[in-house]
Amino acid sequence: MTEIQQNKPLISQLLDTWIQGEASETYALANYANAAAIIFQNVSAVNWAGFYLYHAETNTLALGPFLGKPATALIAPDKGVVGQSFTSQQTIVVPDVYAFPGHIVCDVDSNSEITIPITTASGQKLGVLDIDSTERNRFGKQEQADLENFVQALLQYVKLV
Ligand code: SME
Repeated sequence: MTEIQQNKPLISQLLDTWIQGEASETYALANYANAAAIIFQNVSAVNWAGFYLYHAETNTLALGPFLGKPATALIAPDKGVVGQSFTSQQTIVVPDVYAFPGHIVCDVDSNSEITIPITTASGQKLGVLDIDSTERNRFGKQEQADLENFVQALLQYVKLV
């Protein structure tokens, strides 16, 4: 186990711990899978955590590694919270999914959601991290900052997908 770093969110430290020593981006799917599990197990009141990965040849976001109930397999870049986040390249925090126009329901128990684009420093758009919570208003400023940090940490391990 790596030493606890006070300035780094726990979930990002767990990511480095679990992926450290792996052949990183060569096994991107394995790293996405562990990343989904780390969030699902360590962020409270989360009922779905996973990835939509961008396929440029079909201009589609396809379901990738996740934990939670089965979900919509394909999302167009202009649909749902996931698509809007991808197209705008912005994190979207949804305090109440039932008040969000165009929200795609995957699990009726979800009440709030956060989506974060996964894009390399050189601008390669890889996909979107999507997390649902059973609680309304689960994701605040601190959670957003921690999860954006997590995505930055993850990027070094998934670049080739
Ligand atoms: N709610 C998402 C769809 C994916 S599920 O939440 C897992 C959306 O509106 O894009």
